[in-house]
Amino acid sequence: MSTLQVSVWRGGEAGALQEYEVPRLESQTVLDVVTHIQRRIDPTLAYRFACRVGMCGSCAMTVNGRARWTCRTHVSRVAADGKLELRPLSNLPVVKDLVTDMSEFFDKWAKARGRFEGAATRKEEFARVSPASPKRREADSGIECIGCGVCYSSCDVVSWNPAYLGPAALNRAWTLVNDERDTGNRARLAAVAGDAGCHACHTHMSCSERCPKQISPTAAIAGLKRAAAVAALKGEI
Ligand code: SF4
Ligand code: SF4
Ligand code: FES
Repeated sequence: MSTLQVSVWRGGEAGALQEYEVPRLESQTVLDVVTHIQRRIDPTLAYRFACRVGMCGSCAMTVNGRARWTCRTHVSRVAADGKLELRPLSNLPVVKDLVTDMSEFFDKWAKARGRFEGAATRKEEFARVSPASPKRREADSGIECIGCGVCYSSCDVVSWNPAYLGPAALNRAWTLVNDERDTGNRARLAAVAGDAGCHACHTHMSCSERCPKQISPTAAIAGLKRAAAVAALKGEI
């Protein structure tokens, strides 16, 4: 049976890579490899997963230098030479081993006012939003985000400027800017137009290239830049 040589980050921020040998199997995912190590070799290895089918986003890690969902990454695609290097997601504090603290990632969603702010009461009719309306189409892909952090971990601007709200929070803000039922846009545009907001994006596209759901935060951020400029010209922000 052939084997994989797997280097895994162990410890906190000041940890180090540790080597493991894992049997290579057909149709094996990177998450299968991590699970093998934790169940068969070292039960103290910390990692996170839930759904195993690309729905929850919790299994994201850095695999051979690139952020990925490990449950949807086949070993054969990334380790042709039989070597894997697994680290926690970049740009986030390490809790232990492959587990990062996502608090600041989600705090930034709140700072970008990434929550729905409606005015309707339950006594009113349901809002009817046409799937064909330009705003609904603009928001269409962005609402599929599952908050995995792959884009955030891949963004150089987050690395240089830890205050930067980042691609996921800004993508979320853009979906709400296009939500006809939402009433919080003035405050939202003011929140995302600051120094740590959409204007800090250098359009490197790493977020859009790496998002496993083929979402384009880069396009969303460009939309926010336009909307913030219009709001500023109108004196609204
Ligand atoms: S396009 Fe903007 S948000 Fe996306 S990775 Fe590049 S700098 Fe970051
Ligand atoms: S935009 Fe894509 S990569 Fe970023 S958090 Fe959402 S699903 Fe993950
Ligand atoms: S375990 Fe849920 S997306 Fe990978």
